[in-house]
Amino acid sequence: MRSVASICVPDGDRALIDLHAHLLPGLDDGPADDAGSLALAEHVAATGTRTIVATPHLRQDFPDVRVPELPGRVAALQALLRDRGVDLEVLVGGEVDTVWAQHQSDETLRAVSYGGRGTDLLVETPYGELPPVLEELLFRIRTRGFRVLLAHPERNPSFQRDPERLGRIVDGGVLVQVTASSLTAGKRSRSCALAHALIAEGRAHVIAGDLHSVGGRAGLAEALETTDHPRARWMVTDAPAAILAGEPLPPAPSAAAPKRRRWNLKRER
Ligand SMILES: [Fe+2]
Repeated sequence: MRSVASICVPDGDRALIDLHAHLLPGLDDGPADDAGSLALAEHVAATGTRTIVATPHLRQDFPDVRVPELPGRVAALQALLRDRGVDLEVLVGGEVDTVWAQHQSDETLRAVSYGGRGTDLLVETPYGELPPVLEELLFRIRTRGFRVLLAHPERNPSFQRDPERLGRIVDGGVLVQVTASSLTAGKRSRSCALAHALIAEGRAHVIAGDLHSVGGRAGLAEALETTDHPRARWMVTDAPAAILAGEPLPPAPSAAAPKRRRWNLKRER
């Protein structure tokens, strides 16, 4: 993550929305304390983000993340930001593990959906080789009434080798969130190539920071600097706004044909 002064802060009239952040202090693998959360919040606010969702890990290896506590923790952080004059709205959410979700009640899943609205869930792509049962696990979550936003599939080696598997998941109705730092990683990065390909093919719907600290990953403003594809700005404004509202995604702008051909899923094989 670069300093604020070196980042071209978007000057459009639309504030940016970040749907994936490990922002709550002393909880998962995000900031250790209030000072760290405050610094991260100040950074994202200074680079154009006005709404961010606190999405702590919800999986077995983070037992200290207790769902009933999340609204209070978010409210406490929001109060701190208000006291310090940080113009950033923080909403409740969670990054849900595919297996963890199978053992939770509908009430618990609704509580960790975006804004607690009960419509949209951020679901973490498993790490390492993907099990054949992944599609079934996602299907089970969706049949319980949730729209799934799949977090950073471009970083997974199975999808990098077989992007059409991800394409079939997307074609089946799952939304995709690519991570800002994937877009900035450079064309020699397989994550970067797949992330840009997904945008060009219209198979990615949200760009999010998945930030854990100041000085770590690139944020939304830096990601927007890597592409002139008009879908990219839609992915940090209109699309996340619709997800927060639990509404269908609005039509996305498309690029001219020559630019779409710069990144092609087939090149990733
Ligand atoms: Fe995350």
